Amino acid sequence: MDIRFHNASAGDWRADCTLIFTTEGQRIQEVAPALCKAAPWLEITPALRDITGKKNEQVVLYGHPDLPLPRVLSSGLGKAASLNMQTLRDAVAKAVTACRARSYETLGIPVEVLDGLAETLGSSREELVKETVAAALLSLYRCDAYRSQKNGPTPGGKAAGKSAAAQKAGSTKGTVENAAGNDEDGTPPDPRWLALLFTEKTTPDAAHRAAREAEAEAAGIMLAQDLSNGPANYITPDVLAQRAKKLASSHGFSCTVFGPEEIRKRGMGAFWAVARGAREEPRFIVLEHCPKGKEKDAPLVLIGKGITFDTGGISLKPPAKMHEMKGDMGGAAAVLGFFAALGQMPGADELPRVVGLIPTTENMPGGNATRPGDVVVTHSGKTVEILNTDAEGRLILCDAISYAQKEYAPLAVVDIATLTGACVIALGDYGTGLFTGDKELRATLMDAAEKTGDLFWPLPLWDEYDSNLKSDVADMANIGPREGGSINAALFLRRFVEKGTRWAHLDIAGPGYVAKGSPLHPVPGGTGVGVRVFCELARHFSGKEKKKGAR
Ligand code: BES
Ligand code: MN
Ligand code: ZN
Repeated sequence: MDIRFHNASAGDWRADCTLIFTTEGQRIQEVAPALCKAAPWLEITPALRDITGKKNEQVVLYGHPDLPLPRVLSSGLGKAASLNMQTLRDAVAKAVTACRARSYETLGIPVEVLDGLAETLGSSREELVKETVAAALLSLYRCDAYRSQKNGPTPGGKAAGKSAAAQKAGSTKGTVENAAGNDEDGTPPDPRWLALLFTEKTTPDAAHRAAREAEAEAAGIMLAQDLSNGPANYITPDVLAQRAKKLASSHGFSCTVFGPEEIRKRGMGAFWAVARGAREEPRFIVLEHCPKGKEKDAPLVLIGKGITFDTGGISLKPPAKMHEMKGDMGGAAAVLGFFAALGQMPGADELPRVVGLIPTTENMPGGNATRPGDVVVTHSGKTVEILNTDAEGRLILCDAISYAQKEYAPLAVVDIATLTGACVIALGDYGTGLFTGDKELRATLMDAAEKTGDLFWPLPLWDEYDSNLKSDVADMANIGPREGGSINAALFLRRFVEKGTRWAHLDIAGPGYVAKGSPLHPVPGGTGVGVRVFCELARHFSGKEKKKGAR
């Protein structure tokens, strides 16, 4: 769905359906005065009395079919006093999916409706435009690349028509689309465009930029969702590396990829301990955004866990829900999604130098797999006794953390990982555990998440628990007790953070992959959590680069 800008007096606006949002007791003349002036039938249409503004209410008002604005969909926001941005996002998402279900091709949102909400929400017009556009785009996400009959683009970015499944199998079957171009569930195609309806003669630059930022961020999130939802026989470590290379060539990033020999040669013994059991080759992906003149700047380093399938290894997981472990690369997906967003972000050159590091492999059992009790030498030189091969995320991350500090003098290092089941127990399906000893970085990340609507919560890095990681034979074990499992994992990672390095760890085991869909994430599975927060983080660091340079 394209995002457009209509600049005209309301009489010249046109769209199959105009979306408005009302709080309880509000009259539509207050909500959308210019619209009501241009469409006087609104005030006499019988359906008007059905509008109460109650949360989740949707009322469609119909005018004469030949009118330029023949329909208005009013969505209820509930009481003004309890209104928040998430309510608006959900209402926008539900309105847009309702329009798709009704096969409306062109949609409009009068910006005066958003302006009217700005004060209640304590937000600027630009923020409202951004959140509205992002919610509208995200609500239309679908994952039908692996169906034999479908309509949308595949995760590999191939043309619509033949499914990924049919392409991979080299099949000539399964290319028949039904007449309506619907997908298997019978969902009609997406609306062609959504127009922001301005009465101003030209779109103000700030509003235009906000909409473009929303498009960039939504694209990044949807890439991350595609990668998380993609089955592990398609989304392999090498496919992630190819995606990184493709992002680099389309957007001018640089990208280096190490294979198994390079990983071993560079002494990434912990990463290799996980990778060695798999037939699929591991990759270590380095992706860099470096605007001109910032080559010597200290970069922000983002590290994403890229386990494309986590069986647990020799410490095999139980079969129930094991298939969800195709989503154990949600951290990697967030980093790639962030770079995809950056690639089309207005003003990306004003953002700091950013390096993405993605250690990616399967975690498989097999004759060559690491055994519980094996001791390995990490990239840092520290040794680790691997007591449980299912605690593999920390093993691939610790080498990436060491690599980041050896190769760069980072502004900050932030890792993101579907790291521990314990974090889901602590914070539930939607909570991201935020671990950092850096108060400023904690506040920055909490503020970023508040802005994007992500549920982040700080968890402790208590020194008292560090001895949980004692090993009888090596510098440390890779697990502690079950109790405080997320903290133990975070403390393991902290052992690889050198003095003076600013570091934060995000445990997205819950929100990285969810079992239930929602208006903003209609397909159960990947949510792209982290993408938008990283965009905010990059903005936070813009202009704050220390001229320290790469080592
Ligand atoms: N990928 C899992 C964590 C996970 C669990 C993510 C559920 C999403 C949903 C991770 O590799 C893992 O297996 N962690 C173990 C660690 C334990 C062996 C110390 C866990 O959480 O059970
Ligand atoms: Mn595991
Ligand atoms: Zn895992």
